[in-house]
Amino acid sequence: MKRNSLKDRILITGGAGFIGGHLARALVSSGEEVTVLDDLRVPPMIPPEGTGKFLEKTVLELEERDLSDIRLVYHLASHKSVPRSFKQPLDYLENVDSGRHLLALCASAGVPKVVVGSTCEVYGQAGILPTPEASPLSPRSPYAVSKVGLEMVAGAHQHASGAPEVGVVRFFNVYGPAERPDALIPRLCANLLTRNELPVEGDGEQRRDFTYITDVVDKLIALADQPLPPVINFGSGRSFSVNDVVRVLQAASSGAEIARKRPRPNEISEFRADTALQTRHIGERSGGIGLEEGIRLTLNWWESRGLDDIRQRIFQEEGAD
Ligand SMILES: NC(=O)c1ccc[n+]([C@@H]2O[C@H](COP(=O)([O-])OP(=O)(O)OC[C@H]3O[C@@H](n4cnc5c(N)ncnc54)[C@H](O)[C@@H]3O)[C@@H](O)[C@H]2O)c1
Repeated sequence: MKRNSLKDRILITGGAGFIGGHLARALVSSGEEVTVLDDLRVPPMIPPEGTGKFLEKTVLELEERDLSDIRLVYHLASHKSVPRSFKQPLDYLENVDSGRHLLALCASAGVPKVVVGSTCEVYGQAGILPTPEASPLSPRSPYAVSKVGLEMVAGAHQHASGAPEVGVVRFFNVYGPAERPDALIPRLCANLLTRNELPVEGDGEQRRDFTYITDVVDKLIALADQPLPPVINFGSGRSFSVNDVVRVLQAASSGAEIARKRPRPNEISEFRADTALQTRHIGERSGGIGLEEGIRLTLNWWESRGLDDIRQRIFQEEGAD
């Protein structure tokens, strides 16, 4: 990754979380100086050790002096639960306000580059599949609305003089070890191991575009070495149904039962990324991890934690974001 002698550190907000933690460890092990900011509102799945200098504060508490030696920011801190956003929608305004505060500070501190984490949820029920970046935004949850707001803040900086270079990454479904158990694949793994059942919301035919975490980290690092496009999809370009995921887990277990649950409100039937810009920008990524292998690696990671730990995690999730 390109260096700058005066500003030599990379800041990752939300760096104690799933994507941020993996990214921080990968950057530290490649010799980068990393600062992680996280207020630990969500109990980390892996303690934030080996991830560089740690700032325990919210994004809104960040000060200009925290940024004096920063050359690149990955802004990943966020409220991110779709179901919880329907219960506490106004909390999600913090996602917009944090982006506004961070980008204004980056401008005044002279941080050259900021990658802002957004989501495919901004497309809602997309009219075009696979969905290119230029598709209309049609958010269907307060979480997705907050990310549209965050993207608008990023867009304002993209058009301002003297502002850092700002690029928005729309993540599709990222999965792997250390993802919290409110997300689909970890929830299935945790329930399989503790109850030998696989909870499926609705008919399970909803389709998602899954990418294994190490492949996403690889793309995030590659992206930072290029001029940032204003918005870029990070997905695989393929979609699989929840039932496909369930079949992989059933094959890895002994007779796990499917537990049918109510469908989610405003459930989106399919997300699938148009990856043309991603390929043009950071090239074809070789050696990626396919869905079956990725699910097996994730299940093995959950298995290695032991049942008491998994039960405690599920319990903690009920109170977290
Ligand atoms: N995981 C996915 O599949 C996925 C998909 C689409 C978008 N995203 C986006 O990627 C980013 C990272 O997601 P993740 O899965 O790693 O989430 P995560 O919940 O595992 O990590 C987020 C971290 O941010 C911290 N945090 C939240 N708000 C904060 C604030 N205001 N100040 C300081 N710390 C704060 C939390 O404590 C947590 O450690 C988020 O912006 C999310 O919206 C993720």
